[in-house]
Amino acid sequence: MAAVSVTVENGIARVTISSPPVNALGHAVRVGLKEAAVKIATDEAIRGAVILAEGATFPAGADIAEFPDVPEPSHGEVFDMITALDKPVVAALHGNTLGGGLELALACHYRVAAANTKLGFPEVNLGLLPGARGSQRLPRLIGAEAALGMMLTGKPIGADKAEKIGLVDETVPAGTQDDAAIAMVTALIAKDGPLPRTTEDSEWTTKDRADPDIFDRIKADYGRLFRGVIAPDAILTCVKAAVELPYEKGVEVETSEFLRLLNSDQSRALIHVFFAMRETVKVPDIPKDTPLIDVNSVGVIGAGTMGGGIAMCFANAGIAVKLVEIKPEALERGLSVIRKNYENTAKKGRMTAEDVEMRMGLITGTLEMDDLADVDLVIEAVFESMEIKEKVFTRLDAIAKDGAILASNTSFLDLNHIAAMTKRPEMVVGLHFFSPANVMPLLEVVRGDKSSDSVIATGMKLGKALRKTPVLAGVCDGFIANRLMFPYMVASQQMLLKGTPMQEIDAAMKAYGFAMGPIALLDLIGLDVITFPGDVTMTGELVKLERRGQKLNGGFYDYDEKRRSTPSPAALEVIEKVREANGIETAPALSPEEIVASLLYPVINEGAKILEEGIALRAGDIDVAAILGYNWPSYQGGPMCWADIHGLGTIISGLEAMGIEPAKLLKEKAETGSSFT
Ligand code: CAA
Repeated sequence: MAAVSVTVENGIARVTISSPPVNALGHAVRVGLKEAAVKIATDEAIRGAVILAEGATFPAGADIAEFPDVPEPSHGEVFDMITALDKPVVAALHGNTLGGGLELALACHYRVAAANTKLGFPEVNLGLLPGARGSQRLPRLIGAEAALGMMLTGKPIGADKAEKIGLVDETVPAGTQDDAAIAMVTALIAKDGPLPRTTEDSEWTTKDRADPDIFDRIKADYGRLFRGVIAPDAILTCVKAAVELPYEKGVEVETSEFLRLLNSDQSRALIHVFFAMRETVKVPDIPKDTPLIDVNSVGVIGAGTMGGGIAMCFANAGIAVKLVEIKPEALERGLSVIRKNYENTAKKGRMTAEDVEMRMGLITGTLEMDDLADVDLVIEAVFESMEIKEKVFTRLDAIAKDGAILASNTSFLDLNHIAAMTKRPEMVVGLHFFSPANVMPLLEVVRGDKSSDSVIATGMKLGKALRKTPVLAGVCDGFIANRLMFPYMVASQQMLLKGTPMQEIDAAMKAYGFAMGPIALLDLIGLDVITFPGDVTMTGELVKLERRGQKLNGGFYDYDEKRRSTPSPAALEVIEKVREANGIETAPALSPEEIVASLLYPVINEGAKILEEGIALRAGDIDVAAILGYNWPSYQGGPMCWADIHGLGTIISGLEAMGIEPAKLLKEKAETGSSFT
């Protein structure tokens, strides 16, 4: 079917968009809409039109894959042609009416929405703004404040709310929107009245113009959304132009701001992340028709922090879980922590008391591993000791039914060795959750040498069912995310020893975009969790002083009752002691740029090795793992995309200056002028 088709019946043109999967407004759709606009204008038999879309959704936006070079005709040009028509045009909305899709809807004279429609401007998530007149039309229709709320948060609103604020004219039951739009256009033709256009000033424009503080107020309200990113300020500039200038002048401002963003590193990074997030599930050597294993019941061994969090993930997805512990008190503790977590969520109003009971009802505690005989999947989450894991898997092999998947949540032990404890290594896989497992969105699916395609495909599918982003990893020490970030943590410790103050290290990484710097992160994770190599032993020394981080007595920092931190005198003494013991000379404190380079170049190098060894399938998978596992700021694109933007040559020279041998793949990419992403 053509991307856009037009049929005419009873004087009404039915313009249908068909461009699966999300009816994105790619070149063919724009050409089709332009031709449709010309036909509506010139065909005298046509007296009005509806624009609708086939499939699951009205257009979900511009075709992001076209960016940054968008061939003519531009979205804005086509939309302006539709608005200028002097025959009524009604948009029939359903599904995800987002970005350019919503701009198309705003270009029509009226909008009818199915009750399940989501309407939004998510461009800000791509480092962009609604650049096809959306920033100019929406404020005229619903006022600057409501318009900025949608554009700055990027969050879609439902059809009901959209009707309340005047964004849609009528909400109808799902599936009836096309007929309702035709009925509306029929009535409009009969009425033959003036057509409202979102290119014209409105009551809102007058009201917003008369409010001198409006933009300062809005900026203060949404302050945190402006941190580190450039799109929100550009959005504000455009909406200001919409309020203060005539439409054509506002469009000039919008176009110039949009192009500036479109060619920025931030939008390049965020668009990379958009596609990388969706690509992780694609495993090239696993055929699409690989049979999946049904997972309707799960066993989790170990009711500690990880095991409990994993059990919650399954209960949240409606899957029954048996939670196994050795000692009754450990089981009781584990179950009560889970209950408390759910109750806290309920207290915040994000869950009802019934939800709490329903989820607790899906989790059954047991002290008998034999109870796992009938489950489809077992995840081991016991202490990180190979000796213990060997015993667990040997036992599990004897208990679990044929066809059950046996998974380990190990974060660094050899999965192939674990699999070798069983007579069914093909059924063994790593399912590596990040702590807290019920919150963190990353799941590393670790493929052992013998893991079967079905087991891997099921692991990836399961990740999605648990509302996580699954990333496939090969077997190595630390898999992708932890292996990648270990050099970062080590480098931060070495930097402390060489004399850069902890608060400066943390501040530089916060300015780069991390929620916290590496030293504060260690305090949060717990100083007893990571073991560093021989010469950087501060964490070990602090643990000896019973300082384990935020959870016990503070760590590198002392914390007051409001969790405000100050560098701890005890930690400064420890740093001094380790420095002396290792004969380390201090150097002048590094600048923020030097801190970023010294901490991140080793990560890029490790990422290149991870890729070179085939531990990760794609550079994008490494970026996704860093963003979702370690909160790497997505507007920096993750480590590999950032490396491409920053310059591979610069990174190589930096590594050499630090005395680190650049990875082979990094050198190859730099020499051939290619990139990771
Ligand atoms: N352009 C190109 N491809 C897109 C796309 C877009 N706008 N939106 C989705 N896709 C692709 C995805 O990459 C995916 O492709 P694969 O199957 O090959 O991986 C496929 O469509 C399905 O997408 P999802 O897996 O994300 O499907 P979903 O059902 O989970 O979510 C969605 C649907 C909510 C629409 C989600 O895809 C989404 O948020 N899309 C982006 C929306 C957006 O940002 N729109 C604004 C675009 S920028 C713009 O419009 C600028 C402007 O002012 C003109």
